[in-house]
Amino acid sequence: MAPVDPHSFADSDHPFATHVALSLYVDFSTSSINGTALISLPSPHSGTLTLDTRSLHIATVLHSETLTPLPHDLSSPPDPIKGQALTVTLSSQSSFLVSFSTSPSSSALQWLSPPQTSGKAAPFVYTQCQAIHARSIFPCQDTPAARICYSARLNIPASLCAVMSAARVSRREPRPGEAAPACPDAAWCAEDRLVEEFEMAQRIPPYLFAFAVGEIKGREVGPRTWVYAEGGPEVVDAAAREFAGTEEMILVGEKLFGPYEWERFDLLVLPPSFPYGGMENPRMVFLTPTVIRGDASGAQVVAHELAHSWTGNLITNKTNEHFWLNEGFTTYAERRIVEAVQGEERASLNIGIGWKGLNDEMERFKDNMEFTKLKQNQSGVDPDDVYSQVPYEKGFHFLWRVERQIGRDAFDQFLKKYIATFKFQSLDTETFVDFLKANVPGIEHEVDLETWVYGTGIPSDATEPVSSVYSKIVSLAKEFTLGRMPGEEEVAEWQGQEWELYLENLPRPAEPSQVAALDARFSLAESRDWEVKVAFLEWAISSGCNEYFTAVEKALKEVGRMKYLRPLYTVLVQGAAKEEGKVLAQRLFAEARESYHPIAQGVVETILSKHL
Ligand code: BES
Ligand code: ZN
Repeated sequence: MAPVDPHSFADSDHPFATHVALSLYVDFSTSSINGTALISLPSPHSGTLTLDTRSLHIATVLHSETLTPLPHDLSSPPDPIKGQALTVTLSSQSSFLVSFSTSPSSSALQWLSPPQTSGKAAPFVYTQCQAIHARSIFPCQDTPAARICYSARLNIPASLCAVMSAARVSRREPRPGEAAPACPDAAWCAEDRLVEEFEMAQRIPPYLFAFAVGEIKGREVGPRTWVYAEGGPEVVDAAAREFAGTEEMILVGEKLFGPYEWERFDLLVLPPSFPYGGMENPRMVFLTPTVIRGDASGAQVVAHELAHSWTGNLITNKTNEHFWLNEGFTTYAERRIVEAVQGEERASLNIGIGWKGLNDEMERFKDNMEFTKLKQNQSGVDPDDVYSQVPYEKGFHFLWRVERQIGRDAFDQFLKKYIATFKFQSLDTETFVDFLKANVPGIEHEVDLETWVYGTGIPSDATEPVSSVYSKIVSLAKEFTLGRMPGEEEVAEWQGQEWELYLENLPRPAEPSQVAALDARFSLAESRDWEVKVAFLEWAISSGCNEYFTAVEKALKEVGRMKYLRPLYTVLVQGAAKEEGKVLAQRLFAEARESYHPIAQGVVETILSKHL
């Protein structure tokens, strides 16, 4: 009896399931799913088997052929992080059938009423499973160490459409008995219902399970890419324009990292409450609509999620303690793709923005240095609470350091070999370090691997990017302290990312009159670019400019992307205007809460509870 992952009840003495067949009745009227999961093991197993669940009601556990009940137990009370363990007792079975239902508070699911969508006419539901939320949709060994294939039948209102991070098999009439015993035929086969069937033949970690149901439309943008969105044709059209360069990026990725193994690379643009910029669900990446700005800058987020097709989805962190293997490699790979399609200057701007972000995280975790490490101890820690730029940016800098040491050609060869060697496996940090030492002999004498991988803080041999645009912007920001504002001609060529870098490097707090003057000249609070708008508002509030409260309120009611919620709520409760800020934050959250995804609700709650 030993846990395989601090975030899962899965046990090292038990076999990992290899396949799950799901029948899911998607019920908008109760914001819940009624379903069955036929779970298959690699060989017959006797004794107990433990699965993860959260907010699930377990109706029955049955022998898959005789349909006789099998003994099972649901642990109680729920562990605040892991949820409830479902322990099933088997006697030489290689599969069993669980019938269950989700609850409206299931943390992976956001249910939107028609007014909460762009189209306003139909309801919408979507999933977000990383890091440990798949267990709130169906019982599973919810650790990325356990890879599964799956098939899924989604029973949905016939007027809607389902998409999944899997291959679509068919859209057809429901058949009696398909979801027995979870869902009666009268409901499953009702006139106004349809079944959409999907199949995922490649082994994935559970956090890559994903679907969405709503009034979804799509358009082709490349030979293996369609873009889908909820809302009118204008949303799909704008998305198609923004992402027109996707195929070019896939080709670059293949050249750098090896064949694209997932066949399709579709994109789904979600409603504004989607809590992330993007989520790398295989075959169908999920994206926030805030990346559609009409200037193709959303390409950076697509480059990132695409890069996960190799680093993250082919090679997956074994547990969330090795999350840097996903995000550090992906940030490195993303910047290589950006460099190839948009040039070195753009890539170095991204590195520069990330560098500032990494340094800020050191301040955030100064009393909790564990989370400044690449490999982290996360026992008793909720991954959503310690999500940060550290795995992304420190991971990036580590790989960049190795690249500088051995040269780009050698590093590229190493990366390709790494991916080919471990594809479709879940990996830990130690295995990576051993592979690095074996394939780059002597590297441990040239780069201090121990400090980089297991140490806290930013190692002294990490470097800022060298580029003229980057240095110019950073020094312009420093000059702001002396009262110098950039002239119109100096910013004429600036796009969102230049502004983002500039704003992040400004002194804080700044003189309120200077904040207002900068905004009067460049209308930053009104920017269409969310990165710019939020960076400006955060800086303004931290400088005590309460006149921006209204703009902050508007922003926090329009989007649910945590990258924006986190800094804005934090600065309200911590910034120069904290007393009034706290009052605003509380009222705002009470009003906006329902529009946020459950994961985002939890994150805002944590911020407020720390400071109120
Ligand atoms: N996999 C992450 C999103 C994620 C991380 C979801 C942890 C849940 C838990 C995704 O690939 C990501 O990093 N998204 C970034 C995009 C950015 C780096 C371009 C985001 O959402 O901001
Ligand atoms: Zn990522």
